[in-house]
Amino acid sequence: MNFRKYFSIFFVLLLTASYSNGARILAAFVFPGKSHTMMYNAIIKELLQRGHEVTLITNFPQGNLLSNYKEVQIPVYDFFKDIKEHFGAKSHFDLTKLTMTGFMKMLDIIGEKATEHALQQPNVQEIFNRTDTNDVYDLLLVSQFYQEAFLTLGLKYNVPIVTSSTLGYENFMSHMMGIIQPWSFVPHGFLPYDDRMDFVERVTNSIASLYEDLHREYIYLPKHDALVKKYLSHLPIKFPKMSEMERNVSLILLNSHAPITTPRPTITGMVPVGGLHIYPPKPLPADIKKFLDDATDGAIYFSLGTNIKSADMPPEKMKLFLEVFSTMKQRILWKFEADKVPKLPKNVMVQKWMPQNDILAHPNVKVFITHGGLFGSQEGVYHGVPMLGMPFFCDQYLNLKKATKAGYAISLSFPDITKEGLNHSLTELLENPFYRENMKRISEIFRDRPMNARDTAMYWIEYIIRHKGAPHIRSAGLDLSWYQFYLLDVMAFGVLVVSSIIGVVYILIRSLVRRKKIKVKKN
Ligand SMILES: *[C@@H]1O[C@H](CO)[C@@H](O)[C@H](O)[C@H]1NC(C)=O
Ligand SMILES: *[C@@H]1O[C@H](CO)[C@@H](O)[C@H](O)[C@H]1NC(C)=O
Ligand SMILES: *[C@@H]1O[C@H](CO)[C@@H](O)[C@H](O)[C@H]1NC(C)=O
Repeated sequence: MNFRKYFSIFFVLLLTASYSNGARILAAFVFPGKSHTMMYNAIIKELLQRGHEVTLITNFPQGNLLSNYKEVQIPVYDFFKDIKEHFGAKSHFDLTKLTMTGFMKMLDIIGEKATEHALQQPNVQEIFNRTDTNDVYDLLLVSQFYQEAFLTLGLKYNVPIVTSSTLGYENFMSHMMGIIQPWSFVPHGFLPYDDRMDFVERVTNSIASLYEDLHREYIYLPKHDALVKKYLSHLPIKFPKMSEMERNVSLILLNSHAPITTPRPTITGMVPVGGLHIYPPKPLPADIKKFLDDATDGAIYFSLGTNIKSADMPPEKMKLFLEVFSTMKQRILWKFEADKVPKLPKNVMVQKWMPQNDILAHPNVKVFITHGGLFGSQEGVYHGVPMLGMPFFCDQYLNLKKATKAGYAISLSFPDITKEGLNHSLTELLENPFYRENMKRISEIFRDRPMNARDTAMYWIEYIIRHKGAPHIRSAGLDLSWYQFYLLDVMAFGVLVVSSIIGVVYILIRSLVRRKKIKVKKN
């Protein structure tokens, strides 16, 4: 009896011990965009809280987290330097002038440079140089954003790979995951379209998506092959081409979710976890709290995100905003990266940093003026605050197109903004219940899920670890050649069969007709 009791206690202890040990995860997030931290920090923190060990390669130190956390810090790479050098942009405000292909080229350049910068760091090289790689990690977690060379760590440590995509769904992912996302109704993320495109839009969308696919395959990914050759050729591993390695990613976590992403074909290994950076609101700093509590006519929150600095705004635009704000009875809370703003109206408060999520959760905040970035848009939707959008680059046009079409935002072109346009749009958003009601409905749909975003991400990461990369969810389409994948061989066969039948019938008829003619002649 006693023996049994001790045995069962021992067994329970053994179980809990092996569970609480958790998995060992190597995470590489070397792209130096500050906004990207919003997504991966949420994932890393949650993994740590669940008892997993995480080693994170990052530009941005997390401070003292738990004892199961190790950090490999790399100096922040200043990518704006490259933008200045290659595109002559003085601030992010100049990026509205870039074409879509120009923007892709820019991402190529900063992605390649930032990846190389990371590969040059001694503490990163140590991870690559390590020789005892057997059973060190259980999973590689990497960013799905312009740092492909780091997929090599998966082969180095012989572990499955999960990536996380800050921009959410992107059309090139069909190639990685072995599916088809028709360009007839799946818009490219950098175009201002939604899923209902007219003929010209479908032509543009197809050209853009095809251009990106070819560009990745023949220009962009070979740059990462070259980086691997330059920095990792001393390793006793023969790394396949990058385009082959990225087809070995087990799962992509996507910063997307219905209804703020258009419906599209997908596969088990693509998991939408949009909004996982949103936490229950924390108490506001006293000055902001008072400012908002006392805003009896409502308040407007204004932020252009982490990249675009309001302080860099051209002076004439700045004047325009302040003039319109000064005539309003609402209070305006503006994320503005300077200590003082001259001639600041009494109803406007500026601060360099603002707890955005907690502010948007305040019931007096009625309108959110935003650049339409994905994280901010999700927070606005989550808290049900109608938006005034001014898109600048990247997916901001698409996000705001979706928002205006769904009736919870008004979008203005920043370069062409006028006093009347701004005043009219703000008044509409504040006074016309149309926007508030649509936003309320969209917000309810966004929150309605079987499991919240962070739990979903954890479930799938742990699933991939438990099932050693889960090869059973991988599309067999990845192992077909392109003409087999698109059924071109089958279609060619079909054309051959049909044309053979037509040919045979033609010959038969011709010979019948001839015989008849001969008969007629004979008669
Ligand atoms: C890694 O190994 C390579 C080749 O032996 C060497 O050049 C490099 O200095 C090593 N890096 C570190 C940090 O040990
Ligand atoms: C794919 O990943 C598995 C481990 O999950 C590894 O054994 C295999 O070599 C990888 N193949 C390529 C082409 O990266
Ligand atoms: C904005 O519109 C309101 C009326 O809707 C008007 O009272 C106010 O003067 C206008 N402000 C500007 C700057 O045009």
